[in-house]
Amino acid sequence: MDEFIVGLPKCELHLHIEGTLEPELKLALAARNKIELPYASVEEARAAYSFDSLSSFLVGYYESMRVLQHEPDFYDLAFSYLEKAASQNVRYAEIFFDPQAHTSRGVSFETVIRGLRRAVLEAERTLDVRAQLIMCVLRDFSAEYAMATLLESLPYKEWIVGVGLDSDERGNPPVKFEKVFARARQEGYLLTMHCDVDQENSTEHIRQCLEVIGVDRIDHGVNILEDPALVAEVKRRGLGLTVCPVSNRFVTDGSKSAAIRRMLDEGLRVSVNSDDPAYFLGYVAENLQLVRDELDLSHADLVQLERNAFESAWLPRRGKDIFL
Ligand code: ADE
Ligand code: ZN
Repeated sequence: MDEFIVGLPKCELHLHIEGTLEPELKLALAARNKIELPYASVEEARAAYSFDSLSSFLVGYYESMRVLQHEPDFYDLAFSYLEKAASQNVRYAEIFFDPQAHTSRGVSFETVIRGLRRAVLEAERTLDVRAQLIMCVLRDFSAEYAMATLLESLPYKEWIVGVGLDSDERGNPPVKFEKVFARARQEGYLLTMHCDVDQENSTEHIRQCLEVIGVDRIDHGVNILEDPALVAEVKRRGLGLTVCPVSNRFVTDGSKSAAIRRMLDEGLRVSVNSDDPAYFLGYVAENLQLVRDELDLSHADLVQLERNAFESAWLPRRGKDIFL
């Protein structure tokens, strides 16, 4: 690993906490919660993390979550990620969580949020890493269920900075959730949505994010390069695009690092993130290393990627200063 990459102060904006469930922790939680898994060793559990598309990845991803049952399980999940992040000099992270992946199997919203929140506070105290939580709604569930989840989050509003949209994009465009996101905005949440790479209607979904939803950021969004008018609008609004090269390598036809080069050259606020690092085998430093190697990035380029991340973070600011 390049020493410059390890030492660079980093900001991670696209990270699903459920995607940080390493096989070691999965086995430990299964034992603690007396849940039988179809494998006995870490090696067997890791071998089960195998997929070749977003849909096949999502099947294993949701299936694995059944080991997460109680508040301490969510605490351990998030604290383990934050320890790993601290070891890579991540100074600030915005962490996605998927409440419906848990409430739909009988785990309460309160159990999830209390465990995650406790880990965020403990990491701030003991690891010198700051983090905020972003609640995602699952786009392959109904808009009604998303709205009910949004309402369920309101008592914990102070602990959640924004609302995102993830899961299977096929047939589930941003406009399906127009009312949910309008209400989320009214409640003071910031908004982001996945526009996954090379999905059908990708540029149309980006257009809906901008014109109908009014997002504050876009997750992935690589296909924006196909439409100069969208590029110009995202630049005008200064919106961040959170790209995940190692994840792209698994669920699309490649890392899309050439697109990252173009996005940097266009002056878009592109950042590099890890998405689901336990599944894709790369935390943020490994993601930066991959694009550095593929593009022969300079130190200035790497600094620019992290500057873009901090500048698109949902942190308080005064003028150009950002307050961590
Ligand atoms: N949920 C977790 N990871 C995801 C991804 N890469 N795309 C869409 N939804 C997700
Ligand atoms: Zn994602």
